[in-house]
Amino acid sequence: MNNKILVTGGAGYIGSHTVVELIDNGYLPIIVDDFRNSNPLVLDKLNEIVGQTVPFYNIDCTDKKKMDKVFAEHPDLMGVIHFAAYKAVGESVEKPLMYYQNNLGSLMVVLELMEAYKISNLVFSSSCTVYGEPKVVEVSEQTPIQEATSPYGDTKIVSEKIITNTVNASAQLKATLLRYFNPIGAHPSAKIGELPNGVPNNLLPYLTQTVNGIREVLTVFGGDYNTKDGTCIRDYIHVVDLAKAHVKALNWLDNQKLPVVESFNIGTEKGNTIMDVIKTFEKVNNLKVNYKIGERREGDVEQIYANTQKAKEVLNWSCEYSLDDALKHQWAWEKTLKK
Ligand code: UD1
Repeated sequence: MNNKILVTGGAGYIGSHTVVELIDNGYLPIIVDDFRNSNPLVLDKLNEIVGQTVPFYNIDCTDKKKMDKVFAEHPDLMGVIHFAAYKAVGESVEKPLMYYQNNLGSLMVVLELMEAYKISNLVFSSSCTVYGEPKVVEVSEQTPIQEATSPYGDTKIVSEKIITNTVNASAQLKATLLRYFNPIGAHPSAKIGELPNGVPNNLLPYLTQTVNGIREVLTVFGGDYNTKDGTCIRDYIHVVDLAKAHVKALNWLDNQKLPVVESFNIGTEKGNTIMDVIKTFEKVNNLKVNYKIGERREGDVEQIYANTQKAKEVLNWSCEYSLDDALKHQWAWEKTLKK
């Protein structure tokens, strides 16, 4: 079996967990990452978990010449999982060009080289942000895509279009667009997890850093939403379950006839409020979270969670971990980090 998979952004949060699952399933991942939003130490930990040295290239994915060399060394790739992208909503509003240049630039390089080297299978990291503020809170893949609320969100919508048009014109390209909900948690070994640079934007790293004494207080953005306790609802999915969805997507893609470009929601089908998350974290870890209710954050959607029927039926994928598991693993990981 041709089992080599190029993983761009493979040292990142979702990328590193996916590399573990790829190896567990007999694939040979090759990582490309330039550590702009990750840490070289992740590779050591990854190698410890999998008991082998995962091939790695320190390359900017928008650098076509350097990326071409990687493809030239591995012309027999079975597929590419393209994670490498910026993902901070607020930063994207301040630096839109940086987001378009990196997120779209790296995608184009990947697609051009997949075409040039006749590589078939692309798994792309998309996001539930493509649904915007949905009219029905449980979104399926048929839920209309809406105007993006940030340049980051727009890069995901545009990327999906670029991939779709390229697949439709290609003689060999097939793709899945995985629309992630809110990934949380860490590997059960506590050897890898999320390593945000600077002040975290996302809820869970902010929460655990607060409990760890790095941040003083967690501000809950808005307590007056139209939900049971006034706080926003999201679909929080364990990062290992999300990682496993990539393996299922690759397996499925490889067996499809051309042309195929399919989107899949990857979530738990459960909506939890921020207060649910805080209370569950406190219960499973026997700890207190210092939090206060603050102003709403601009651009936040009130509530959204996934309908994942399609991923269940087509990819034969479903979640194995609970919110309790994710929050236990998240804390176990945070405790390994130095203050
Ligand atoms: C956002 C993006 C999502 C993207 C993800 C990656 C949108 C609408 N969503 O998800 O597409 O993939 O970031 O970074 O573009 N919260 C607090 N206090 C905090 C931090 C967060 O209360 O300090 C709240 C937020 O208001 C939100 C929830 O926690 O209600 C989750 O926030 P966050 O982790 O930032 O993820 P999203 O905004 O859902």
